[in-house]
Amino acid sequence: MTSISIKSPQDIAGMRIAGRLGSEVLDYITPFVKAGVTTGELDRLCHEYMVNVQGTIPAPLNYCPPGYTPFPKAICTSVNDVICHGIPGDKVLKNGDSVNLDITVIKDGYHGDNSRMFLIGEPSILSKRLNEITYECMWIGIAKVKPGAHLGDIGHAIQQHAEKAGYSVVREFCGHGIGTVFHEEPQILHYGRPGTLEKMQPGMIFTIEPMINAGRREIKEMGDGWTIKTKDRSLSAQWEHTILVTETGYEVLTLSAGSPPPPAFITTQAQSGVPA
Ligand code: MF3
Ligand code: CO
Ligand code: CO
Repeated sequence: MTSISIKSPQDIAGMRIAGRLGSEVLDYITPFVKAGVTTGELDRLCHEYMVNVQGTIPAPLNYCPPGYTPFPKAICTSVNDVICHGIPGDKVLKNGDSVNLDITVIKDGYHGDNSRMFLIGEPSILSKRLNEITYECMWIGIAKVKPGAHLGDIGHAIQQHAEKAGYSVVREFCGHGIGTVFHEEPQILHYGRPGTLEKMQPGMIFTIEPMINAGRREIKEMGDGWTIKTKDRSLSAQWEHTILVTETGYEVLTLSAGSPPPPAFITTQAQSGVPA
């Protein structure tokens, strides 16, 4: 039994605002993501920007799904072999590190969830390639979004692209429906088979957020109750957008002035300002 909500025009309007604000936090923090900064300082800066400049609420702070302890910070900072849910703290970013900053804001009750990778200084060739392939994986998944297509089409396309490059797809964490609730149905798997799972319908909103490992796909949970690493300590990368299914395709909700452009081979047109 599943029930994927179809958002109302009013919900969609709220989600457009939350999505843009979520993306603007990433724009704001970008110049600070340099060698020598701590992940805790990045969290502090983002938290202040959200609360004092945007009037948004950081959704991760005290977020507590069943079986978890409350997440203690405003953003997730996942460095090198950390796959996701890294907790900001004393860790100093250094030349060659890669870090995912995952930002979710709440505005007027609506959630905007997105993440980007940042490569510090002179990254290794492996780190650059993993990052590029992971960004392509996210967009290849996004390009599958249209009414009548199946959710399994997204995962299949992502898995094919990652595995063709020699990388692996994390299975334990996935994209998710989102709205006034942070994580809701459906789950968006980043692997799978075409033509399987639910059909997409206009008004659905969900994230696509592939986690791609340079080595094996297995994960290891750290003792802090949140941080997830690769079991083989290989590098991991992740990108995330929040996506609306439109009448003809998709609209990326988490876009702003600083969003990197889609890869050149993405020819589907993202819509904007389409009346809901
Ligand atoms: N933003 C993450 C996601 O993309 C969820 C983070 S939950 C937290 O779904 F509590 F760790 F913040
Ligand atoms: Co998400
Ligand atoms: Co996120």
